[in-house]
Amino acid sequence: MKPHDWRPPTLTTERLVLRAFTDDDAQPLFHHARNPNVARFTLWEAHRSVEDTLIFLRDYAVLRYLEGMAEPYAITVKPDPRPVGACGCFWAARPHQTMELGYWIAEPFWGKGYVVEACRAALAFAFAEYAPERMQARVIAGNHASARVLAKLGFREEGTLRRSLLRRGNFEDVRMFSLLRNEWHAAASGENPQQ
Ligand SMILES: CC(C)(COP(=O)(O)OP(=O)(O)OC[C@H]1O[C@@H](n2cnc3c(N)ncnc32)[C@H](O)[C@@H]1OP(=O)(O)O)[C@@H](O)C(=O)NCCC(=O)NCCS
Repeated sequence: MKPHDWRPPTLTTERLVLRAFTDDDAQPLFHHARNPNVARFTLWEAHRSVEDTLIFLRDYAVLRYLEGMAEPYAITVKPDPRPVGACGCFWAARPHQTMELGYWIAEPFWGKGYVVEACRAALAFAFAEYAPERMQARVIAGNHASARVLAKLGFREEGTLRRSLLRRGNFEDVRMFSLLRNEWHAAASGENPQQ
């Protein structure tokens, strides 16, 4: 058991700092999470008020930290400490040692490779700390940028779960990707597990 005030360790990359969220992030995070372009392919709805953002920070983030999960991480771009997105790995099926990667970043920061950089750090921490056998990621069909992120991280596409998600009144096709523990470690050490 982790102490109730446990928070994920801060991770630093070349351009980013990933850290735990706090209540103080509500206003700057709302500024980005209210954008419907960001929520176009997400499971969550664009935030309508800062109250929605506070619910995310208090009811989602704090509960994950209480469980000892390093998720969600606030993505910040050096040297600005304000959050511009979120990423992290959570248990999708703990008895099967399967985790899932999720991520988003604010629209002004798209196309700069930030999410790949952030997710590499979050994946390194999750594989080291929780040792999942499988890391999966789901992408709603049409979200090509997200599929590119996963390809750059070394994920493989497994197939499409046809019409498996009822979202905003529509059944969506969901593309399933995965990265296995041995593939992650082989890539991290410069090997190719297929050879
Ligand atoms: C999808 C998302 C995570 C990609 O993150 P990112 O840091 O912009 O990713 P990258 O910079 O590595 O770019 C990935 C691809 O996005 C596309 N892209 C680049 N600039 C773009 C722009 N200005 N607008 C839209 N797409 C763009 C390119 O196809 C790029 O692929 P390439 O590197 O082969 O050219 C980000 O756009 C986002 O947060 N979107 C909203 C939330 C979301 O969809 N989350 C994922 C849910 S599964």
